[in-house]
Amino acid sequence: MPRNINPAIRIDRCVCSGTSFDHLRETSRKVGAESIPALQEHATFGQNCRLCLPYICRMLKTGTVVFTEIIPEESMRVDCPEVFEGGGAE
Ligand code: FES
Repeated sequence: MPRNINPAIRIDRCVCSGTSFDHLRETSRKVGAESIPALQEHATFGQNCRLCLPYICRMLKTGTVVFTEIIPEESMRVDCPEVFEGGGAE
């Protein structure tokens, strides 16, 4: 098992806003939001600690809404570069 996977953890929401990834996936599909900034126009998340953003980035790419692994913020530089280009997640 890769060392960043821990079946004892369950990451399924933006803890700061309480918005579940399931709700965010449904919203993204409903409104056609394919990026974090586009989704933030329709839902509240990622406005405080931003620890949820790597997971929401992954959710947008794969549809996964429950995670048992720690996803480093650096992974977003490849998958969601708009977050680092002043794309609204500040
Ligand atoms: S967990 Fe999403 S902003 Fe803190």
